[in-house]
Amino acid sequence: MQAADEYRGGPDAGPELAVMAPRSNIEAFCETAALADAMRAAAADRRMARAHTQVHMGGIAAAVRRFEAQSTPNLLIVESPAEQGALPAALAALAEVCQAETKVVVTGRFNDVELYRELMRQGISEYLVMPLAPLQLIETIARLFADARAAPVGRVIAFMAAKGGAGSSTIAQNCALEISRYADLETAIVDFDLAYGTASLNFDIDTSAGLLEAIDQPARIDPVLLDRLLIRIDGKLSLLSGPGGISRDLSAAPAAVEAVMLTLRASLPRIVLDLPMMWTGAVKSALFNADRVVITAEPELASLRNAKFILETLKAARPNDVPPLLVLNKTGLARRPEISAADFAKAAGAALCAVIPHDPRSFGAAVNNGKMLLDMAPKSKAAQALRQFARQLAGTEKAAVRPRSFFSRFGIFRKT
Ligand SMILES: Nc1ncnc2c1ncn2[C@@H]1O[C@H](COP(=O)(O)OP(=O)(O)O)[C@@H](O)[C@H]1O
Ligand SMILES: [Mg+2]
Repeated sequence: MQAADEYRGGPDAGPELAVMAPRSNIEAFCETAALADAMRAAAADRRMARAHTQVHMGGIAAAVRRFEAQSTPNLLIVESPAEQGALPAALAALAEVCQAETKVVVTGRFNDVELYRELMRQGISEYLVMPLAPLQLIETIARLFADARAAPVGRVIAFMAAKGGAGSSTIAQNCALEISRYADLETAIVDFDLAYGTASLNFDIDTSAGLLEAIDQPARIDPVLLDRLLIRIDGKLSLLSGPGGISRDLSAAPAAVEAVMLTLRASLPRIVLDLPMMWTGAVKSALFNADRVVITAEPELASLRNAKFILETLKAARPNDVPPLLVLNKTGLARRPEISAADFAKAAGAALCAVIPHDPRSFGAAVNNGKMLLDMAPKSKAAQALRQFARQLAGTEKAAVRPRSFFSRFGIFRKT
């Protein structure tokens, strides 16, 4: 397939970090601008939204001065340029002012096992060697607070159209089905298009207003409630959707959407969000907090302009995340002049992750039979492109906060 050849930086390129830092106070005392910048970038990341982070300069000496007069935070990160032999002594002064519950992470220049062991003996939680990337800091922070029995963190994949009717919902539903089967993981579709959502129609199941019940009372959202509201539609696939219809005003507060996402993430390994083509607080919040964002566009000018806007906005808001994934749908429509896949990718400034041909016969048959295209016309070109894309999105690794080896991941100290 053409898209596969052009494909650069796809769903599984770049960093993957399925962790969330908990509610906590964190203070960093840096010596170098490099660490201060990395700390600020980490603090601004979506995964750190619940932590309160302050970044100071002045290293260990500044930390000692500050905490002589006030209590220490949950986590203290200090940078020290001190020579190997001098570091333990410098930390002893800090220990004098540090409360017992405070965890201390030290960053330094020396990659040395003896030093590491000595610092661990002193009660330091972790020693990290500079330079450090924001994601390393986030992982360390999340891991230090992670309960050994902590719930796994699911992967949220949000789908939005660059233009209504581009096929985003259809692609989201087919991808969710394929992910649940291919990765063999419990997957939920959340149809956030409360009034006009098509998931229940397309899967041919009775409408339920489950999602509305949840977002009407955000304070009650918990795993038990969502588990009751989810409707099973295939082996490992369930659906949470709105009522379908416009008998009342339908809107969701961003906080309610966040609560749904947070709760589902803690109980399900894969969550597919089908977002309406709107730019509301709730939609933005869902896009900013998802692990992957898929933008579906048609090969025409309005889609291109909107896709470009969405891509640029999300790249700026999520600098440490995989950039949004661009899908070009309904290509090759007879007698319609269209922008070629190569030109579209170039103008949008993003690689295409899938190119799906216009195939009204197969998609129409799927809708009429209440089936997914993947089951209705599994051999069609469109189904092949969809399946390939969904499998890349699936991420078959177990998405979980496990106390996995930090050492092997970042090549810091290896345990000997
Ligand atoms: N590649 C395609 N070829 C033909 N029809 C398609 C294709 N993709 C989607 N459709 C059809 O386009 C219509 C709009 O799709 P939908 O997924 O609801 O769009 P969106 O969610 O982007 O508004 C549906 O009837 C769907 O079956
Ligand atoms: Mg839709």
